[in-house]
Amino acid sequence: MEKPRESRMQQRKGVTLLLFPLPLQGHINPMLQLANILYSKGFSIIIIHTKFNSPNPSKYPHFTFRSIPDGLFEHETSTADVVHLVTLLNIKCIRSFHDSLIKLLLDVKEEPIACLITDADWYFTQAVADSMKLPRLVLRTSNISSFLVYAALPLLLEKGYIPIKDSQLEEPVPELPPLKVKDLPGVKTRDVEDFYHLLAELVNETKASSGLIWNSFEDLEQVELSALCKDFPIPIFTIGPFHKYFPATSSSLLTQDKSCISWLDKKAPNSVLYVSFGSIADINEAEFLEIAWGLANSNQPFLWVVRPGLVLGSEWIEPLPHGFLEKLGGRGCIVKWAPQQEVLAHPAIGGFWTHNGWNSTLEGICEGVPMICHPIFGDQRINARYVADIWRIGLHLEYKLERGVIERAIKRLLVEAEGQEMRKRIMTLKEKVEHCLKQGGSSYESLERLTSYILSLQPLSSH
Ligand code: UDX
Repeated sequence: MEKPRESRMQQRKGVTLLLFPLPLQGHINPMLQLANILYSKGFSIIIIHTKFNSPNPSKYPHFTFRSIPDGLFEHETSTADVVHLVTLLNIKCIRSFHDSLIKLLLDVKEEPIACLITDADWYFTQAVADSMKLPRLVLRTSNISSFLVYAALPLLLEKGYIPIKDSQLEEPVPELPPLKVKDLPGVKTRDVEDFYHLLAELVNETKASSGLIWNSFEDLEQVELSALCKDFPIPIFTIGPFHKYFPATSSSLLTQDKSCISWLDKKAPNSVLYVSFGSIADINEAEFLEIAWGLANSNQPFLWVVRPGLVLGSEWIEPLPHGFLEKLGGRGCIVKWAPQQEVLAHPAIGGFWTHNGWNSTLEGICEGVPMICHPIFGDQRINARYVADIWRIGLHLEYKLERGVIERAIKRLLVEAEGQEMRKRIMTLKEKVEHCLKQGGSSYESLERLTSYILSLQPLSSH
């Protein structure tokens, strides 16, 4: 259990905060980390959560949990169409969230409630909070760069960059350097209009909120932060990276297989490629096999997370040729889910092949691990472009996945001078992370401002 260390706790402030995470892994992790950070600043925490993908309250005995019915039928809980899922949640949770909030506000006994903090994807909550005169702060779990692209949606539609046309994939988007058309947000969904609607609501209801919190840090996204402040005249707090405040995460929805740590213990420093595509993305069988052969042919050790469901049409790793791992003589290890932050911090890890979900990207930066980028949907494409072209800490696999290309990329990253240069650059960013969290650093100071800001809000109490 990751109870915040007593030495870092501040005196209790007698003020309660309501937090409402979006029930997807990449969103639950940062929201519960933020809850721990705010608890350590002296606030009491109530987590409102859906039944679907509910966090485990026993891992957080210092918080109060309130479950709300989400109305999802079993067949609606699939993450295969994540836009549809998030849209449904925003419709189906309105009543239960509203009722739960009323009850919580009536129940207030000793401590007043200062504000509600929700994921940006919970756009319906702004109207509910307004109706109760409860300030709503937003946590955007991805980065500022991709949010600015979402905010540019009307322009992108007007100029015809989206819907993306195959004939324009490689063309630059001069309004949003360094993006190419193919980096613009896109996702597999039954109705693309739902996607545009979700992005527009997310941006508009964030603009209408009382403040915006980022799991990012100023040094990484200075230019983007300035642009954001111009367009979003609300208080903005860059207090990340969240996971550096407290070790490990207790919010994993899948069981983390820790056996891979003892496997890593036997490997040479900086020698292993860690491969993971996060909690939602999927690939087809042909891509899976190209990856497998690319890894095998590279002759470099690898730790590969193959989440059940990652490969379309397969339970797990059945498409692999018989004896695939055995023939590699201990050079490869495959797990269903890893303790990722611990893995990335392990001295044996030399590279990270990632889908560039924002949590993974930030976790890689924090541990100084250069990347191979294989973005799949949404913000991942923008993150990958920044990793490869702006921060220059990774190689972008932007064309068809093919074993020869993969083998070359792994060697370039782990063995060749190019990879060493990337490692140097990412180590500089790692140092910046360490600095920004210390007293006087940008995230430290931003967290102080956030604490004072929350305390300045007019708390709601039943008295
Ligand atoms: C989703 C979207 O895909 C992403 O683009 C958006 O930025 C956040 O939501 P997800 O696919 O879950 O993200 O990836 P990511 O943001 O990287 O989050 C995955 C989390 O799961 C990370 O915190 C990572 O440490 C954790 N993880 C991943 C594990 O604990 N074990 C694993 O084996 C893999």
